[in-house]
Amino acid sequence: MDAADILIDIKRVSKTFPGVLALNQVDFCLRRGEVHGLMGQNGAGKSTLIKVLTGLYPRDGGEITYEGAPFSLSSPQEAAANGISTLYQEINLIPALSVAENIYIGREPKRFGCIDWKQIHSNARQAIRKLDLDIDVTQPVSFYSVAVQQLVAITRALEISAKVLILDEPTSSLDLAEVAQLFKVIRRLKEEDMGILFITHFIDQVYQITDRITVLRNGAFIGEFKTESLPRIELIAHMLGKDPAAFSQEQEGAATQERRKKTTADRLLEVRGLEKKGSMSAFSFSINRGEVLGLAGLLGSGRSETARLLFGIDRATGGTIHLDGEQVNISSPRKAIDHLFAFCPENRKEEGIIEDLSIRENIVLALQARLGIFRALSWKRQNEIAERYIELLSIKTPSTSQMVKNLSGGNQQKVIIARWLATDPRFLILDEPTRGIDVGAKAEIQKLIIRLSEDGLAILFISSELEEVINCSDRIAVLRDRNILTELTGEEMDVATIMRVIAEKEVQKNG
Ligand SMILES: Nc1ncnc2c1ncn2[C@@H]1O[C@H](COP(=O)(O)OP(=O)(O)OP(=O)(O)O)[C@@H](O)[C@H]1O
Ligand SMILES: [Mg+2]
Repeated sequence: MDAADILIDIKRVSKTFPGVLALNQVDFCLRRGEVHGLMGQNGAGKSTLIKVLTGLYPRDGGEITYEGAPFSLSSPQEAAANGISTLYQEINLIPALSVAENIYIGREPKRFGCIDWKQIHSNARQAIRKLDLDIDVTQPVSFYSVAVQQLVAITRALEISAKVLILDEPTSSLDLAEVAQLFKVIRRLKEEDMGILFITHFIDQVYQITDRITVLRNGAFIGEFKTESLPRIELIAHMLGKDPAAFSQEQEGAATQERRKKTTADRLLEVRGLEKKGSMSAFSFSINRGEVLGLAGLLGSGRSETARLLFGIDRATGGTIHLDGEQVNISSPRKAIDHLFAFCPENRKEEGIIEDLSIRENIVLALQARLGIFRALSWKRQNEIAERYIELLSIKTPSTSQMVKNLSGGNQQKVIIARWLATDPRFLILDEPTRGIDVGAKAEIQKLIIRLSEDGLAILFISSELEEVINCSDRIAVLRDRNILTELTGEEMDVATIMRVIAEKEVQKNG
């Protein structure tokens, strides 16, 4: 390989946090004109490597060269000035600012010394169109869904004309069409000889877009591979630290173990004609004890709206909910919690995690709220609960008192799930619970969902990954345009049928 092709060369870089060796002498090499995947389980050190590279964290040891010269940065601004554009895993948009302002913040085009708003808006419109996005750039970003915000953040990273583009889980909340659009742009940038570092937990995407893959495990460098000569099963085995040969046999065994879909007759919840005028059309369904009802649909189809109505976050304008045959009034989350409902939301940053509290405090939060302030859980009890879920969900942390903001992204997600499981609910709503979670933990969470349902819990399961919905659910309700179209059971529950149901509606609408 030609040395001139190398953009960034990282050698033996280490980084320690109190109680955690996040990077242990890691090597990484990014070349011009390549898309390089960085893979590893939650907490493997991927985001830390990027933060050390871009100067957000100082490194403890090792060397970094950039286009052949020694390189050390002390801030992300400096990284951008050097041609390294980064989209961090935690999207840092400013909610109150407009889409256009967020894209150009700090780099506003000026005219006669003043910010040229007309120019900013027209630039922003052009920029977002590259991602096939059609939104009003003068609106505050907070006005839009998580997915759109993600696309705005990506647009900002793309607008810095740079030599290196770093994307830390850019696709976690995007649908298939949006991912395809992003990949189109990435391929074009690659043609222009940019080096692109791409982090994701979606194995399919890694194989679609990357040329090389570097695997990290527990902060250590495991290897660099050409994507085309690394079979998937080997990649996963490297990430999990298993012997590839033994692991592929194990997997074959598991695949033949089809889960039997169960039908129980013990009705827990009956929803009739629930609706919210202007946001969700009337829908009806029921869930029995021990049953998983999956919700499938494209982004914006009304999956999260359904969940929010059931949990009383949004107030229904019509319809009824019966619990064990009796009508209940779920007009607020408080009431939902009183009825032993639990809701794990999709947007963990805004609706979930409290970053400055410990893992222990975050996990017991919902349980404590249900018990009320006069029945405070002892510290010992809190710790027991936290330890139980750290173990159950394999949350990677040195202790229960670690601040949640110091956990890796995927491990923060697990803390939210733990919080709701700790309330011992009888109806659990999971909205995208495996987003940002690595393959190993994802399989664990899917197993957990099935196991909880076998213990009698009724679960509403929302996920953009159809395979996952099919795998975990006993029945699937298919949504489109904020409308539940139909319910699929048994043999009908496959990707092709679900897609056909969604598409048929489209045909009818157009016809
Ligand atoms: N600021 C911090 N303080 C303390 N520990 C930290 C901090 N940032 C990261 N860590 C720890 O370093 C390890 C690596 O975290 P990192 O965020 O790099 O993981 P990751 O590979 O990006 O995982 P994910 O896929 O979940 O995003 C984890 O054990 C994490 O808890
Ligand atoms: Mg990360």
